Amino acid sequence: MTTGPLSTPPSEARNHPINPWWVDAVIYQVYPRSFADADGDGMGDLAGVTAQLPYLEELGVDAIWLSPFYVSPQRDGGYDVADYRDVDPLFGRLEDAERLLDAAHAAGLRVIVDLVPNHTSSAHPWFVEALSADPNTEAGRAVRDRYMFRPGTGAEAPNNWQSTFGGPAWTRTTNPDGTPGDWYLHLFDSSQPDLNWDNAEVRGEFEDILRFWLDRGVDGFRVDVAHGLVKAEGLPDHHARPGMVTDAEPLAAAGDADAGEDVAGHREANPQDHAHPVPYHDQEGVHEIYRSWNAVLAEYDHDPVLVAEAWVSPLERLFRYVRPGEMHQAFNFTFLLAGWDAVRMSDAITVSVQEAEKVGAPNTWVLSNHDTVRHASRFGLADPTRYPNGLGAEDEQPDDALGWKRGRAAAMIELGLPGSAYIYQGDELGLPEHTTLDDSLRQDPTFVRTEGAEKGRDGCRVPMPWRADAPGFGFAVGHHVDTGPSPVNPNTPATPGHDAGAAPVAPAAPWLPQPESYGTYAADRQVDVAGSTFELYRQLLGVRGELDLGTGAFAWSRFHSPELGVLAFTVATGGGQGGYDLDSGDHIPEKVALVMANMGQTAVEVPEEYAAAIFSHDEAMQDGQLMPDSAAWFLRR
Ligand code: GLC
Repeated sequence: MTTGPLSTPPSEARNHPINPWWVDAVIYQVYPRSFADADGDGMGDLAGVTAQLPYLEELGVDAIWLSPFYVSPQRDGGYDVADYRDVDPLFGRLEDAERLLDAAHAAGLRVIVDLVPNHTSSAHPWFVEALSADPNTEAGRAVRDRYMFRPGTGAEAPNNWQSTFGGPAWTRTTNPDGTPGDWYLHLFDSSQPDLNWDNAEVRGEFEDILRFWLDRGVDGFRVDVAHGLVKAEGLPDHHARPGMVTDAEPLAAAGDADAGEDVAGHREANPQDHAHPVPYHDQEGVHEIYRSWNAVLAEYDHDPVLVAEAWVSPLERLFRYVRPGEMHQAFNFTFLLAGWDAVRMSDAITVSVQEAEKVGAPNTWVLSNHDTVRHASRFGLADPTRYPNGLGAEDEQPDDALGWKRGRAAAMIELGLPGSAYIYQGDELGLPEHTTLDDSLRQDPTFVRTEGAEKGRDGCRVPMPWRADAPGFGFAVGHHVDTGPSPVNPNTPATPGHDAGAAPVAPAAPWLPQPESYGTYAADRQVDVAGSTFELYRQLLGVRGELDLGTGAFAWSRFHSPELGVLAFTVATGGGQGGYDLDSGDHIPEKVALVMANMGQTAVEVPEEYAAAIFSHDEAMQDGQLMPDSAAWFLRR
């Protein structure tokens, strides 16, 4: 893998004013259960998101992506959907979704919703109907064909597939007469039966669901498990468990099609390995589905976006999801999995830039989400490339101070890169993972299905701290009477319990307890506080927008030296023509940013030719040198 100078021409198409909004958008992921609780029941809700929109406006993001808020038994945090066209009472009502959409749009924020097409909840009327249907009748077979029912062999499951959450991927049903029946496939929890995407009714239903939300004005869909919908003919056995968030083995050279590791360190062959193809991931047939969805979105003129959550590798395979006429973006998990390591990150960026150019799609960059240990904690582990599926009290505890520094520096890399960037709620506060959550409180099905071997994802889903001195750190955003108005959003509407004259009602405790340290990270300790992580993000987003870095031309700079731990690239915008290399000086684009991160052990020299600079933290620059575990943006206008 070469890490030498790489230069890409600025894409004229991208710099054109008619660019769709998502090409360079910064998109903030809201996990509704844990963002803000307007009704004080301890669970986040849509009215809470609406109440906190001013905070997101201040931060300066372009859009929000809402994890599922649909009707759901919540066996997998809402990724088990029982009604795709309505809001779960936990989060409000359909009108709350419409109100949120209107308020977001009025604030200039786009809204992406989550679409979960690989499986429904077992509480979905289709599955309930399938279970009670008689497989010996035509009508019974028709309703069962929406799912993946198979007879099995005696007491044996139809094949050896394992659930991503642990345990077998098949559960046996009981016939209406009480005898053991067929088995159904669930790549995830047994409460998440996989749909049969060879079934025309399934296809039609999801096109309808897209239209349902597009008609209400949503600006796009994040497509859950986009690589999983189609299964290989005959459902052949596979030799490994499809872990989604297991500890990664050292990442094989990015882009190496023969590498034996899958992108998430799945310990399984990658899809290019024809000796061991993964029969439930990245099958060719998924692309036809996304072409049909692209056509549905194209019926709307507000540029809605399709974003793939596809854990596939190498990156060349991932970028097939964003070929013209398919999806518009795909999360770059190779970047996320690189960890705090200059060589791995450099390789991930190099290949991403190359592959994106080939298909003419923008890159996306992401450091954390609701499935990962927060990067501020991962980067504080002794091995900052580790990717554990959750951390518990008995596991190695991260160095929070180190993770905090590196997390801020990593944000400077992420937000400096051209393309679209995803921020997971709390990233902008430098939030660490809750690493000592009591096991009895864990709700992630992974924890149960692996019998505790994997702690799972609850630690990154802990409710947001809004106010350091309020109960539950102000998660109940409507309950401000005791501690004064929120500095973040003084206009937060009063909740029913706080109507004039009504006695204040104490909010319920957040559904997962926050660690004590969250007080120091609370939003009210950071908004308008110089040097805070929130203010760093706000500044970076401001400059990124001002200089159009998101549509700029990327080039590794002469300072780039990943073997020494130094990552350095330039982004040229506003008229730069051709690749820009600091050594050549042939073309001087109007605006250039040099992004430098020191992921090594020793301080490094920085250029002198840049007028202004932003540093990842106060001590990042000492004696004219960039210190380890820090980053800087050097700007020349
Ligand atoms: C996706 C989601 C994850 C969920 C899984 C099953 O990977 O991000 O949270 O558990 O799909 O829907």
